[in-house]
Parts: sequence; C-alpha cells; structure tokens
Amino acid sequence: MTTSKNTDMDPTAEPEEAAIAPETQPREVATIEQRAAAAGERGAAAVADAIEQGEDAEKAVGVLYLGIDLGTSRTSVSASNGQRETIASYVGYPKDAVSQKLLKKRVLFGQEALDKRLALNFFRPLEHGVLKSSEEGTPEYEDNLRAAKDLISEVIRRAKPRKDELIYAVIGVPAQVSINNKQAVLDAARESVDSVMLCSEPFSVAYGLDMLDDVLVIDIGAGTTDLCRMHGTMPEDADQITITFAGDYIDNKLAEYIRETYPEAQFSIEMIRKIKERYASVADEVDKVVVDLPVNGKPTSFDLTDGLRAACQTIVGPMVDGLSTLVSTFDPEFQDRLKNRVLLAGGGSQIKGLDLAIEREMATRLGGGKVMRCEEPMYGGAGGALKVAHDMPAEFWEKLK
Ligand SMILES: Nc1ncnc2c1ncn2[C@@H]1O[C@H](COP(=O)(O)OP(=O)(O)OP(=O)(O)O)[C@@H](O)[C@H]1O
Ligand SMILES: [Mg+2]
Repeated sequence: MTTSKNTDMDPTAEPEEAAIAPETQPREVATIEQRAAAAGERGAAAVADAIEQGEDAEKAVGVLYLGIDLGTSRTSVSASNGQRETIASYVGYPKDAVSQKLLKKRVLFGQEALDKRLALNFFRPLEHGVLKSSEEGTPEYEDNLRAAKDLISEVIRRAKPRKDELIYAVIGVPAQVSINNKQAVLDAARESVDSVMLCSEPFSVAYGLDMLDDVLVIDIGAGTTDLCRMHGTMPEDADQITITFAGDYIDNKLAEYIRETYPEAQFSIEMIRKIKERYASVADEVDKVVVDLPVNGKPTSFDLTDGLRAACQTIVGPMVDGLSTLVSTFDPEFQDRLKNRVLLAGGGSQIKGLDLAIEREMATRLGGGKVMRCEEPMYGGAGGALKVAHDMPAEFWEKLK
C-alpha cells in the first residue's frame, strides 16, 4: 500500500473513538482504532506496520482465525483452516412441544428456519448488520441477542474448529454502527470465541483486496447500500452514505410491476427474490425472462424481462447520487483517482451489467469513472475480515482475551 497524503495510520494520532476507551474495560475495547489507542503507541505502531506492509504477523500456534460478515440477510465466515460457510441470517425456535417433537431440534437456522417458520418463534436478529432493537433489557432485545448468539455460534461451528483450538475472530459491522451496538455484537460473539474484535465492513472488503487508498466501496446488501470512501484510514461519518436502494427495494419494485401488469399472478416476495437472484441484469442485451407463476393454482408463464430490468435499474441513479457526493467533497487533487477506483461488493453487486451501467451514469454526471467488481461478492467481507485477523500481531489478540 502506498502512503497517502494524510497522516492516517500515524500511530500517535488519536482515533476519534479513543475518547470512549477509558470508560470501558480493556476487553470491551475492540475496534481496530480503539485497540490501537488502548494498546498504546507500541500496539498502534504494530498494527500500523502490519497494515502498511500487509505482512503476516507472527501467528500463535493452535489458533483458528475467523473472519465473519454479519449481514441482515446472510452471515458468512471464512476460516484460516480453509472452511467457508454462509447461512441466511434467520434463527427459529420450536413454538411448543409439538413442533419440538416434529422438528427434533432446539434451534433451526438459515433456509431451514425460513421454511419451517410457521412452527417457530422466528427471528431475523440483525438490522443493518447490528442487533435489532437497541433498547437493552427489553424482552425483544434479549430475544434478538439470544438469536444472534446462536447464529454466531452456529456459523463458527460450521467453520469446524478443532476442540483444542483457540478461536480469534474479526467481525465486520457497518462502519456507522454506534458504540452500544458494537458492544451488543461483541456480547453476542463472546460466548463462542476466545478473542474478538470488530472492524468496519467496507474496511474489511477493501483490506481483503489490498485497496485501502482512495477507493470507493459500494456494498449492496438487502436492506441498505453502503457507500464508503477509503483513504488509507478508518472511515469516518463524512466518508459514508447509506441508502435504502438495495436488494429488498428491487424486490418490492418487481412485485409492484407484477401486481400492476399481471394482477392475476400469485406470488410471494420470497419467490420474487429468487427470480431476481437468477435473472437480475441491467445489461443492454438480455435474454428473455419468462417465469411460471400460479394463477388460480395453475402454473402460467409470464414475461418479466422489462419489469425486472426496470426494477434493477432503479438503484443505479441513487447510487451515483451518493457516489457524486463522496467524490465532490473529497480533496480535489485526489478526486480523479477516487472516481477510477469504485469497488462493488455485497450480494446485490451480482446484477449483471451493473458495473457498466454505473460507469455510464458516472460518465454523464462526473465526466468519467471506473467500476470494479469484487470477484467473490458473497465472501468479500468475511475474507477481508480473515485477512485483518491474520495480520494482527498475536500479542494483540492476547490482550483482548
Ligand atoms: N445473483 C444475484 N443478483 C442480484 N441480487 C442478488 C444476487 N444474489 C443475491 N442478491 C441479493 O443481494 C442481497 C443480499 O446481499 P448481502 O448478502 O450482501 O446482504 P447483507 O449483507 O446480508 O445485507 P445488509 O448489507 O443489508 O445487512 C439480497 O437482496 C439478495 O437478493
Ligand atoms: Mg452486508
């Protein structure tokens, strides 16, 4: 990584959140920036070095490192033993003795929980990557916390740690998450890991690709699209914009189109999402999208080509609005570089032709731009978090225990 114009990784610089550090216990100080402040100058210098040189810090033996991407719709893990797993972020508990007997499980996860949800107390414990309902102490909070704990422990179980291994995890959370919510995520994780730290999601995506300097990450999730400008430092509030033009928005638009165009067609939003995931495209040339939907119980073919394309297209304008704001408020000398390093991540970035559609819109509005895709959008966050975990010095993890 090249050194940028600012003093970003200056270990002596006070990170913004360092102010909170003295009020919390060392165990609770767990974002990289807080860690740097808490570990003092030596610790901070070690992190800065590791990040600067992208070097593998000396690794403790018998440790399994995990990168976890905790998403509203999907949670993924990437482990240093090579395991990778992703589950839909749903958790369900059998409602009564009958459902418990039928399902033969205390708790169900992912697609299985979704399929059996009528027999379950059903949770989608995360909202924008953090625990739903931050009103600590309320039953809703406690329920979501339990569901999040179970979800994290399940995703870790699927990473297949050996019994004798210590587990050190880095969890990616949205960059603008409040300290209370960070604490909640840490609480949820602690039961399952030996040492844990949080890092901002766009940071981990960019870190995984060695692109920390002048890059604009667009993470297209289900509920939100997060745009984040990276300039060699932890992103601050001014570096980020969150909009709700994302996967769910497209699903709703397509549902609206079908209701208006083919009022006789029957469908659920789940069916719509599956159609979108299979055919989503904003490319000029698309194959016809013809799907079967029931009409009075009988499968009937419908042409959704135009409706799906238009629905996908609705997020392009708002994304470029956000992008323009982040570019135009950046140091003028580096604006061109930023424009030419736009990185698409998240499940929604799999819409075909999206990179070119954004480039086209950028050409008209910003005079140009270059958009890249994450090669593995579903694992960008988890893979990047794993890389952060790897690059942190062992002593760092020891102190977090
Ligand atoms: N092939 C695909 N084409 C288009 N959209 C897709 C595709 N695959 C998944 N998606 C959409 O991506 C979204 C989920 O993305 P992702 O898993 O990154 O979200 P998340 O991180 O769980 O959510 P959030 O970031 O809002 O917390 C969903 O709307 C899903 O339908
Ligand atoms: Mg996400």
